[in-house]
Amino acid sequence: MAYPSTTTAPPVDLQITGLGGLGDGVGRLADGQVVFVPGAVPGDHLQVQVVGKRQGVLRGQLLAIRQPSQDRVTPPCAAFGQCGGCDLQHLSDAARLRHHQQHLQRVVGAALAVDAVAVQAAGHRRRARLHVRQTQGSLVVGMLTARSDQVAQTEHCPALSAALEAVRQRAPAALQDFLYLGELSLVLGSAGVVAMLSGKVRSSPPTARELSARLGVVGLRYRLGQHADQWGEDDVALPEVDAPWVVRTQPDGFCQASEQANRALRSVVAAAVRDAGEFARAAEFYAGSGNFTDLLLRPGAQVVAFEQDEAACGQLARAARDAGWSDRLRIVQGDVAAQLSAAAGSEVWLLDPGRPGAPELCAAAGRLAPRDVIYVSCALDTLGRDARTLAGHGLVPVQATIIDGFAWTVHAEAVVRFARQ
Ligand SMILES: C[S@@+](CC[C@H](N)C(=O)[O-])C[C@H]1O[C@@H](n2cnc3c(N)ncnc32)[C@H](O)[C@@H]1O
Repeated sequence: MAYPSTTTAPPVDLQITGLGGLGDGVGRLADGQVVFVPGAVPGDHLQVQVVGKRQGVLRGQLLAIRQPSQDRVTPPCAAFGQCGGCDLQHLSDAARLRHHQQHLQRVVGAALAVDAVAVQAAGHRRRARLHVRQTQGSLVVGMLTARSDQVAQTEHCPALSAALEAVRQRAPAALQDFLYLGELSLVLGSAGVVAMLSGKVRSSPPTARELSARLGVVGLRYRLGQHADQWGEDDVALPEVDAPWVVRTQPDGFCQASEQANRALRSVVAAAVRDAGEFARAAEFYAGSGNFTDLLLRPGAQVVAFEQDEAACGQLARAARDAGWSDRLRIVQGDVAAQLSAAAGSEVWLLDPGRPGAPELCAAAGRLAPRDVIYVSCALDTLGRDARTLAGHGLVPVQATIIDGFAWTVHAEAVVRFARQ
């Protein structure tokens, strides 16, 4: 029987048994139909109003919590539910990690144990893209709300590191005499916060030096209409990467958002590289500015690194030069899928794609025949799809770790090593 998909249907009692990919609680009606309920967590017993059906699944609105889940907690942020930055603050840290672990377990299969690494949620973000909007004569600076182009208003953002939050707090007063709409990107390195600002001005901005002092940053670049200026540091080095390898990024470039999570990621990837055994040639795909590249650059090994971002390739080349390892590394700039022949002969692959995953690359694993594939993923659904492709080429998961790298959200980082059977 099709459930009436209108608000005229009577409310129902619903036991929430899982979490959907967007963080909604999931339960089943007595007739077996699945309902997604925003704001619900596994273990909740709720009264729910079914409000519609989208793409074949029912959507429910939470009317009342009859019995809260023992994993339900009070969100630490006043803007929770409004802000698009964190979507799982109402679930305990332990339950969130368990959820991610079970999700990865489904991807790699029950036969393989999945390790899990927790990350301190409060203040974990060392990188942020903040939005600047004018509301009722004053500026607000923060994350966008989940479903609009407006900025979520909160006195204190608990996800940002203390240094980034301090800049966010100073920003309205620093920007309000000349800016009415913009984007402020921040990244924290050992020397302090470096910023990048773009947007629309109503009058001439101060110099980058003056604005850096107002914001309390160690470097700032801006482009505001026809006004452009730069002062101080232009990039940061990641403190968790040891010399002689130095990984640099800019506020608008990529780096792992949490230093603690990246420390864990690097150590899990290092172990996977070690367990992959001896190799003379390796390929790294989606290399960025070299966050994992040093882990492959063993004496005697040749590495080819693929990355499309020109600035990141420049930073990677600089890291190799400064470490004296340029002769071991070849950088291929451009779309991974268009340059795959450069990976021929590589026994070990390391890849860290964005959310779309790496379908073309995994399809090419049949032809290029790597022995080990170490896959770092921030999107478990596309990892699952790519894992099935790799399995079709005889590459099966042998190690799997989940890292709670995007604390307070439905996202997590996974590292899976696939080996040829
Ligand atoms: C998730 S980041 C990982 C970067 C690096 N591994 C790190 O940990 O900092 C993904 C990287 O892939 C790059 N990228 C995305 N699509 C690409 C493509 N089709 N070809 C080459 N590089 C790509 C992005 O520029 C970005 O640097």
